[in-house]
Amino acid sequence: MVDEINEVLRKAPLFEALDEEDTAALRSSVSEVRLGRGQTLFSEGDEGDRLYVILSGKVKLTRTAVDGRENLLGVLGPSEMFGELSLFDPRPRTASAVAVTDSVLAGLGHDDLRPFLSSRPHVSLQLLKALAARLRRTNDVMADLVFTDVPGRVAKALLELADKFGKEGEDGLHVHHDLTQEELAQLVGASRETVNKALAEFALRGWLRIEAKAVVLLDVERMRRRAR
Ligand code: CMP
Repeated sequence: MVDEINEVLRKAPLFEALDEEDTAALRSSVSEVRLGRGQTLFSEGDEGDRLYVILSGKVKLTRTAVDGRENLLGVLGPSEMFGELSLFDPRPRTASAVAVTDSVLAGLGHDDLRPFLSSRPHVSLQLLKALAARLRRTNDVMADLVFTDVPGRVAKALLELADKFGKEGEDGLHVHHDLTQEELAQLVGASRETVNKALAEFALRGWLRIEAKAVVLLDVERMRRRAR
């Protein structure tokens, strides 16, 4: 189990630039956090003092509008990191983090990380790279909200989930995203009805099969073309 944890941690942006000595130094400040499905780790607006790397499970990052509507910023899986914005910019949490499935996380206190990073600029650069990738994705998502129709956004979201959680099966690419239809709609930024219609249309064309909290992508190439 310890080896497995090390393996997952090593792929995280924070750890991938570390040599063994530094990994061991940082590992001593890591604490394990276990969340049950649906459990909130922190809420938007909370004070943030830790960064997290997912060891197993899935965590969603959400923002809530004043009228209660939710926007899902993303769903993160093993080796992905979150909670770093309040490390670099010590202000309240910019989103809530909620476990989509039972999850195990590695938590690292910002106070332990700051001195560690200030003496290791190459690790800070690695974190900046992860932040830059996130900004690029956010720009894409924003442009898609303006320029792309709902079926295109659904196709894109499913392909992104497939990249993270997809497993090749004999009949296609199995994507166990573990999201309800409502959550999928929140991820795409559209109503549940419109997203369901798009999914049903894709299924009718034979591009995918809908399963409970999962899809099987049967024609990835056409989905890619639809996502463009
Ligand atoms: P923090 O603000 O500390 O807590 C919420 C976390 O959600 C934040 O750090 C980031 O790690 C993550 N987050 C915020 N906005 C986005 C986004 N647009 N895409 C992916 N992750 C995000």
